[in-house]
Amino acid sequence: MLEVRRFLQARKWMKSNESFLKTWHAHVGYKLNLFRLFESGEKVHTIAKTYDWDEELLESWVDVGLSVGHLKKNITGRIKAKKKMVRFATVDSDESAGILLREMMELHIPTLLEYPDLIQRKDKRVYQDQAFGEVVAETSALLEKAALPAVMKLVTKSKPGSALDLGCGYGGYLAKIHHQFKGMKLTGVEKNRDVFNYARQRLPDDIQLLNQDLTAFLNNQNDSVDLVMVHNLLYYFPKDKRGALLKNISELTTPGGKISIITPIHHSQYGGMFTSAFNAFMTAHANLYPLPTIDELKELATISGLTMLSAEPIIKEGGWFIIIFTKN
Ligand SMILES: C[S@@+](CC[C@H](N)C(=O)[O-])C[C@H]1O[C@@H](n2cnc3c(N)ncnc32)[C@H](O)[C@@H]1O
Repeated sequence: MLEVRRFLQARKWMKSNESFLKTWHAHVGYKLNLFRLFESGEKVHTIAKTYDWDEELLESWVDVGLSVGHLKKNITGRIKAKKKMVRFATVDSDESAGILLREMMELHIPTLLEYPDLIQRKDKRVYQDQAFGEVVAETSALLEKAALPAVMKLVTKSKPGSALDLGCGYGGYLAKIHHQFKGMKLTGVEKNRDVFNYARQRLPDDIQLLNQDLTAFLNNQNDSVDLVMVHNLLYYFPKDKRGALLKNISELTTPGGKISIITPIHHSQYGGMFTSAFNAFMTAHANLYPLPTIDELKELATISGLTMLSAEPIIKEGGWFIIIFTKN
């Protein structure tokens, strides 16, 4: 009986790991542009020879692709990528979502696999902003789609004359606000140089962008702002520094002005599995910090002279929320 139960448990684990194969396969395909290379139907041998790649490994990747349904084989034996893989997992596709595969497979999974070591050594990884800043900014830009309606609703309702985006990444929110609401004074602050350069290149000139640490910016800023966006940023700040950050932001905000925070909320009623894994990733780093809870945000509001107006989920399965505050 015991043997049967062991076997059943092992089988269950194997089964639940099946879904990992799809993201592994898509990630390899995205990194090596394989879905594009197999877009029109090609022999494995030809691709391996053209790029001087290991044919046996490529063959195995193709094999997995056929079984997870990312690839198909035509009657001549050529391998053809499914259309949706070319669309979504190819770097140069307008609809590419592949950057998320990179964030998961190159940042999150390796960190989670290091856990036994980190726990035993009482050690933390260091998040390499230089190497991953652009990946993270691009993944955040993917999330904009879910958050934009709430942000635009806030701008429509509160009619700010100015908005400031702290840690603006590629500046997608500023770009959308600029497009829809003419005449607003818009400013973004972004400390990663590569991310800043890309944002500067794509945003209109009348959006002011500063390549600066936002703490230094806040300390030297005198002009008040009607809307401050703090989107996917809190986990760059240790819990004991968030009070000072919110106070600085509050001081800068016009009375009655708004502050929007976008973040996954730990221990909320949504996205328990996702937020606990995301939190595990954050806490494994010396320079990234735990996700906030809703109680922490309420406390931060109280000490910073803010009132929490609403906390709405924007991606329920991810426990991702937009929380709106007003300056008292
Ligand atoms: C996860 S991304 C989010 C980007 C954007 N806010 C969004 O939601 O799409 C966070 C960004 O904040 C920037 N950042 C982190 N700490 C910062 C700081 N102290 N000063 C300025 N930018 C910072 C990072 O470089 C990164 O581009």
